[in-house]
Amino acid sequence: MRRGRPDPWYARASTGAALDPVLPEPSLAGPLEPGSTGPAAPATGHPNRLRQSLRITADLGGELFAGARRGEAFSFASLLDPKPVVLTRHPEHVRSLFAAPPDVAPSLAGESPVRPILGLSVLTAVGDQHRRRRKLMMPSFHGDAIARYRAEIETATRRHLDRWTTGTPFPLAATTQAITLDVIMSGVFGIDHRAAPEEARLRHVVRQTLRLSVGPLAQLAELLNLDREESVGPQRWIVARLDTAMYAVIAARRAAHEPGARHDILGLLLDVRDEDGAPLSDLELRNELLTLVLAGHETTANSIAWTFERLLRTPAADDRLRDVVRSGEDPDGYLEATITESMRVRPVVPLIGRRVRVPWRLGEVVVPPDSRLLVGILLLHHRDDIYPDPFRFAPERFLGRKPGAHEWLPFGGGTRRCLGAALAMEELRIVVPEIVRRADLVVDDPAPERPVHRNVTMIPGRGGRVRAVALRR
Ligand code: HEM
Repeated sequence: MRRGRPDPWYARASTGAALDPVLPEPSLAGPLEPGSTGPAAPATGHPNRLRQSLRITADLGGELFAGARRGEAFSFASLLDPKPVVLTRHPEHVRSLFAAPPDVAPSLAGESPVRPILGLSVLTAVGDQHRRRRKLMMPSFHGDAIARYRAEIETATRRHLDRWTTGTPFPLAATTQAITLDVIMSGVFGIDHRAAPEEARLRHVVRQTLRLSVGPLAQLAELLNLDREESVGPQRWIVARLDTAMYAVIAARRAAHEPGARHDILGLLLDVRDEDGAPLSDLELRNELLTLVLAGHETTANSIAWTFERLLRTPAADDRLRDVVRSGEDPDGYLEATITESMRVRPVVPLIGRRVRVPWRLGEVVVPPDSRLLVGILLLHHRDDIYPDPFRFAPERFLGRKPGAHEWLPFGGGTRRCLGAALAMEELRIVVPEIVRRADLVVDDPAPERPVHRNVTMIPGRGGRVRAVALRR
């Protein structure tokens, strides 16, 4: 069935003065002198911190769009913080945050639900610790490295698409996760990783963990682990299983390691020495590797799943993409525009955050020092002054036009911009057209899939459910 239906947030966002045009004056934003004060951001949602956190866990998008009716920046109560958490959706506010020195507005990732799972790593560290780790990791995500990953992306895509059959509906995210897990595992552990029993075991445990992490129990576990450095409750058990598998891989590789012999990320990290000549500890390696494996595949897999969730409910876009892919002629860059548009309407990471250490001006309002200040990526992507008719999936809006620097933020920005952005884009550019080329997909339910909030990500509630009606090799 190929009919369009309204976006799930449409009803809430389109009533009232939602997503009004940008302020007529350029809104000033940025750090203020200590002690500065001003009007607070308008409060939204339920004043009780637990109730509001539960509402956000149940329907993040709905709560965000409802809050946006109060203005460019608004605040809400949260279990994460006794102070109101402030959220902005204005590009100039975002620019001020991304331009700020890291010690004035450090990332909140270290205080997010992923902290007890990942420990201290490039994603969760701040200050010097972050700078040092990021420098260490950067070479593995530069252009040359990405070119090396290309062959694995193509092989993994072919291998998994070969298993598809026609007729039975399935969640596309299951396939895309298998592909992106293969890609990141080979980047991290080397192309021959499938041969080692320890690595096969790790892969199995990672996939099981992801399966466990959907559903109401996982959301409860997430609430239990809010603002903790170490996991508690069922999450503790899950992390312990991941650890056992990861430490087994590290031990096996340490035992067989020859300096300079391997070019995968673990090989490079095993060769790293600090100023005193000491190698990274097992714990440091565990945290970095787990960060790459978890941050590096589910995000990309769900971005691909969302792309098809939207495409298959927008017949004109679906038809045009099929034409350009199958003809091999895409002079206008429709594939790139489709990927860009899908990450606009369904950013897999809908919010990112910084802790402002000093008072922060956001146009008319002032955020008190030491507050959590979030960037509402999802809201910013639905501003109708930047993206007219924002709830419409319309790749053509990006034909011949690249998104503005602070107007399209699926990968965040500033010194914390996603380390794997180039790899993720390469995966999307290879996997999306290969699926379009090989499969005629349909959806049996034309209603949009409900966005489900899992840890820091927003994923399609039914995994991007599709049915293949025809397949070609
Ligand atoms: C479509 C796929 C992806 C999306 C949407 C995404 C999104 C993000 C976002 C929003 C951030 C936070 C940026 C900020 O706070 O300003 C981030 C950080 C990060 N991402 Fe990604 N990501 C994706 C794929 C990947 C991949 C493939 C990898 C690694 C292989 C990766 C590794 C990381 C790391 C290590 C960080 C922390 C960077 C830092 O704090 O310095 N991500 N990502």
